[in-house]
This record gives sequence, C-alpha cells and structure tokens, in this order.
Amino acid sequence: MAARRLACMAIEMRQFGRTGMRVSALGFGAAEIGFENASDHVVDAIVGVALDTGINVIDTAAMYSDSEEKIGRALRGRRQQCLLFTKCGRFLPSRLSAAGLHLRLGMKLRQILGKADNAESLTWDPRALRWNIDESLVRLRTDWIDLIQLHSCSEDTLRRGEVIEVLQRARQAGKVRHIGYTGDGPAARYAIQCGQFEAVQVSINIADQDAIDLTVPLAQQQCMGVIAKRPIANALWRSPQRPESIHNQTYWDRLQELRYDFLQDERAFETAIRFTLSIPGIQTAIVGTTNPAHLRHHAEFAATGALDRHQFDRIRARWKAVASPDWVGQM
Ligand SMILES: NC(=O)c1ccc[n+]([C@@H]2O[C@H](COP(=O)([O-])OP(=O)(O)OC[C@H]3O[C@@H](n4cnc5c(N)ncnc54)[C@H](OP(=O)(O)O)[C@@H]3O)[C@@H](O)[C@H]2O)c1
Repeated sequence: MAARRLACMAIEMRQFGRTGMRVSALGFGAAEIGFENASDHVVDAIVGVALDTGINVIDTAAMYSDSEEKIGRALRGRRQQCLLFTKCGRFLPSRLSAAGLHLRLGMKLRQILGKADNAESLTWDPRALRWNIDESLVRLRTDWIDLIQLHSCSEDTLRRGEVIEVLQRARQAGKVRHIGYTGDGPAARYAIQCGQFEAVQVSINIADQDAIDLTVPLAQQQCMGVIAKRPIANALWRSPQRPESIHNQTYWDRLQELRYDFLQDERAFETAIRFTLSIPGIQTAIVGTTNPAHLRHHAEFAATGALDRHQFDRIRARWKAVASPDWVGQM
C-alpha cells in the first residue's frame, strides 16, 4: 500500500537557492551511519532506498567517523545520481601522520611567536581545512563536492575571514561547486549576512523552531539554499528516560514541556517530518537513520507533500506559547 503510494507520488524537487542545483525536499543525513558504525550492507541498502525514492541529497562530514568512506563506497558507479554535501573543520589529521605533525609543529611555532590567537585555531587553521577538503574528495571517491560547509565554527572565526577564503579557493580550483555554513544562532545569522555563502544548514524541527524567524527569512532574501538538520528532533519523544547524551537532553526536555498531542498517535513520525518539510524557505530536510526501512517511510511521508495547514499552525502556536527565550537553535 505504502509502496503504491510512493509510486504515484514523487518527492518534490526544489530550487536550491541561487546555486542552480535542484534538491529533493527530503535528503539523507549520514552522521548516524558513521557514529553507529552501520555495516556496508546496511549503507548499500540505505543509499539504494535514497536513489530509488528520488532522494538526491546526501549530507556527511569529515568528522562523522567513517561516514564519508561508507558513502563513497556505496556510491561507486552511481556518483552522478546524487548531490554530495560534506563539511570541513572539527577534524584533524592524526598526530602520527606527516600532515598532522606539520600542522601541530606550525601551531607550536606560531604560539611561541605569539601569533596563535584562540583555542579554535588549530581546527580552523586554513591548512587543516585545505587538508580536510582534499581528504574528503579521496574518501568520497569523487572529483568534486557539490556543497562544502564550514562545520559550525564560531562567529569570531567566521569574521576573521580566512576560513571562508579556503572554501572560495577550493571552489575556484573546481574541487567544490558551492560553499556553505552549517550552524545555528548568531553565527548562522552572520554567515547569511556576510553574503559569502550560497547555502546554510540550521537545526529545525518540532523542538527547535528558533531558526524559523531568526535565519530562514534572511537566507531566503539572500536567495540562499537552506537545509534543515535534525529534522525530526532525533525522535526523542520515543525515549522514556532522559537521554544520557547532553546533545539530546535539550530536545528531550523541551518535548516534555511541549507535550504535543500528535506525538501520541501512530502518525507521529509523519507529522514531525512533514512539519519541517512545510516550513517556507526550507529546501531540503536531511533525516538521519541507520535503518533503510525508516528512510523509505520518510520518503513516503515526504511524497505526500505539505502538512495540513491547520496542523502546521497548531504546532507553531504551541511552540510560541511554551518556548522560552533561551530555547535557541541547537547544534
Ligand atoms: N552541526 C551540524 O552540521 C549538524 C548537527 C547535527 C546533524 N547534522 C546533519 O543532520 C542529519 C540529521 O540529524 P540527526 O540524525 O542528528 O537527527 P534526526 O534526523 O532528527 O533524527 C535521527 C534519529 O531518528 C531516528 N529515526 C529516524 N527515522 C525513524 C523512524 N522512522 N522510526 C524510528 N526512529 C527513526 C534515527 O534512528 P534509526 O537509526 O533507528 O532510524 C536517529 O536516531 C545528520 O545526519 C547530519 O547530516 C548536522
């Protein structure tokens, strides 16, 4: 029945800002397959579902364990069928490698000379970012990356500009087609306002709606591509206990207070993903999973289109009634 539904309804394709790329409204986020160490067999099945159902966006990152290698392997011979988005930063070469040694010795020298300015500077050192991009190309087994994103550096780092120059040079060299920033709050806002990026990736879901007013309208005005990350709030409504991971506690706490009635019914996943897909200005929502059947379900939900207006408005109204000013976008 569900397969028949997908066969007659396709996932909507959307113009991705001013990039000229067309993206599927639903994308696949590949963090979990790296962190949860999904097998090659599972990754092959997930990539198969993505390509079969019309999902053409795969989002990964250098720091998602071996996610890039897994995607590169699963896509062999099919690279042309999808857009590869990845991220640089937050990932350094091993201390034992020539690149790692060189980078760390250079940093030591700059510290001795008083030229290194803050704790972030090794991760966001232009040399480290250039190394990241070159290594991503190898791991993904590709000659080009469709979108390279700075992986949530601070606003201060963005303002120094040299990290942006690395991306611009990689674009000039043909290694990447487009450049973007992924992150939240004031840093994401600055990334949009500075006018240098073609895309932004922000957290948006039923438990994280700050970006709907703070960043998405601004990004729309600038004609940027907008990606929604963590689009189903990590499914935390299903967790009976408060999660141990700090990363997930905030959403779990918020969902306890929001008490959305729709989370009690069997269509909770469908409503959650279609809420995110229905936000004006979002072009693609990248759902994460280690389960091919879950991705197929989301593809079926996405193919049914926007959420009923009344239900969308009720979720927005509930958020506005309950959210406190410190419920800001979560990385
Ligand atoms: N700073 C950044 O740039 C940043 C930060 C966070 C995320 N991201 C991007 O956003 C992507 C998505 O984020 P995310 O994976 O953290 O959050 P998410 O997509 O909101 O949630 C993923 C979680 O939901 C579960 N799930 C998904 N579909 C399900 C279903 N039908 N039934 C039951 N459980 C289901 C998954 O478990 P199963 O494996 O069991 O399906 C997984 O634990 C990431 O992969 C990454 O690409 C970027």
